[in-house]
Amino acid sequence: MLSSLLWLCVSVSQRMSSEEGMSCAEFLYPLFQAFDFLHLHTKHNCWLQVGGGDQWGNITSGCEFVRKKTGHLVHGVTVPLLTTSSGDKLGKTAGNAVWLTGSSYPLYQFLLQTGDHDVATCLHRLTSLPPEEVDVIMQQHTTAPESFLAQKRLAEEVTRLVHGAEGLTHAETATKALFGDHHSLRSLTSDELLNLFSHVPTTQLNFDHLSSDTTVSEIAVQAKVVKSEFAVHQLLSTGGLYVNGDRVAENETFLPSLHMLPGNLTVFRVGKKTHHLIQWTH
Ligand SMILES: *[C@@H]1O[C@H](CO)[C@@H](O)[C@H](O)[C@H]1NC(C)=O
Ligand SMILES: *[C@@H]1O[C@H](CO)[C@@H](O)[C@H](O)[C@H]1NC(C)=O
Ligand SMILES: *[C@@H]1O[C@H](CO)[C@@H](O)[C@H](O)[C@H]1NC(C)=O
Repeated sequence: MLSSLLWLCVSVSQRMSSEEGMSCAEFLYPLFQAFDFLHLHTKHNCWLQVGGGDQWGNITSGCEFVRKKTGHLVHGVTVPLLTTSSGDKLGKTAGNAVWLTGSSYPLYQFLLQTGDHDVATCLHRLTSLPPEEVDVIMQQHTTAPESFLAQKRLAEEVTRLVHGAEGLTHAETATKALFGDHHSLRSLTSDELLNLFSHVPTTQLNFDHLSSDTTVSEIAVQAKVVKSEFAVHQLLSTGGLYVNGDRVAENETFLPSLHMLPGNLTVFRVGKKTHHLIQWTH
């Protein structure tokens, strides 16, 4: 153990004696990752570590460590790091990780929101489309960027790759339901609705809140979908408030038969993408 630690110390000694020095975390990171690799190699027969380009040092430390301990030649591969156009890394630490496991919807949505500057790079790097086809997609995209052709293709290709055809269908259905009209929302069951809106703010309102002349915007204020009466009126005047996918009209009366979805749920949307769920209880 001590000798293993010693060689790692040598590999960082140069850095430590440099002008800027080295932080403890910076020192420990390759160390722990090297032990990880050794464990994965000896216990799980792992021979290859793949990572973003910024992991090169951590990975090669591991390769060297495993070679010294076992005599085995293990390998590392790094790929250029995918960053946001502002240069930020995507990951747990940055708080903007997109998971490949779980629902296909967040991945699909994330890719749909790729900026015009990044979309060609992503099509090249994340899909197996031939470069010539990416060029054609980008040409079409440039003539009408407002239809998000390139982003849609990117989201479609990557979601299918990760979640299969079924996962892609799920993500597309969810997107239609979230941003489409009441027809797409009404086609969902209460379980599907609860699943789809599990991450949005939810308010439980008692049926007692309803009388025959309660308006939709009063409900929006009571459920704190919108902060105040005044804010509601501003939203209504710009057409920015939706109930179950339909634009809310001024003085529109809340009708349970119309405004409640299966499971006695009501979905509000403010602007383009802020959703709020209301669960009606007795
Ligand atoms: C090791 O990983 C950390 C965390 O991702 C990273 O900040 C650091 O640059 C890496 N160091 C090396 C030498 O690869
Ligand atoms: C909504 O109600 C207010 C107050 O009763 C009224 O002044 C206004 O004209 C109504 N708006 C519409 C579109 O009916
Ligand atoms: C929805 O409300 C109706 C009418 O008040 C009630 O009969 C029904 O049990 C409620 N359903 C659920 C799932 O809460």
